[in-house]
Amino acid sequence: MNDKIEKILFTEEEIKARVAEMAKEINDYYKGEPVVVISVLKGSVFFVVDLIKKLDMDIALDFIAASSYGSGTVSSGKLKIKKDIELDIVGKNILLLEDIIDTGETLFEIINMLKARGVKSIKTAMMFNKPARREKAVEADFIGFDIPDEFVIGYGLDYDEQFRNLPYLGVLKRSVYEK
Ligand code: PRP
Repeated sequence: MNDKIEKILFTEEEIKARVAEMAKEINDYYKGEPVVVISVLKGSVFFVVDLIKKLDMDIALDFIAASSYGSGTVSSGKLKIKKDIELDIVGKNILLLEDIIDTGETLFEIINMLKARGVKSIKTAMMFNKPARREKAVEADFIGFDIPDEFVIGYGLDYDEQFRNLPYLGVLKRSVYEK
């Protein structure tokens, strides 16, 4: 284990097993209807790659980049769209993928923006859900794991752009960010 990690919340194996279950839930829900998967950069790329290999409908993939966080640990509360999607999504089923939903601000803003483009439906899937920090009411349709309000990193989640590549979800030691 990385020496900056306090503890592991979910191992690589546990995450892999849950992703497979989520894929089954999503396959059962869409029943073969085509879906445009939109991955919210950067954190969700690990989740999207693992998940969509297990989906059995026709999938188009696109990416959007938005940011509400600086390099610290507290949300600034302002969302910026840094990169928009490229596909035409009029009349399409959209599955929006996130690594984590925290305050809900990011998904709330992105959902409203995409809805205004005349999509057929929008569902959300997130690997990790931190319900204690929710400020915006956002429909979380497919959830990997509910997690406690701790500073988590790994499986796409960063602290100051580090630790995304850890294959597990860990809690960062306080000494790393309380300097
Ligand atoms: C993280 C995460 C979500 C968002 C969740 O992204 O990937 O997009 O924060 O927080 P919220 O529910 O409070 O809006 P971040 O802006 O850190 O970008 P990153 O994925 O590139 O690390």
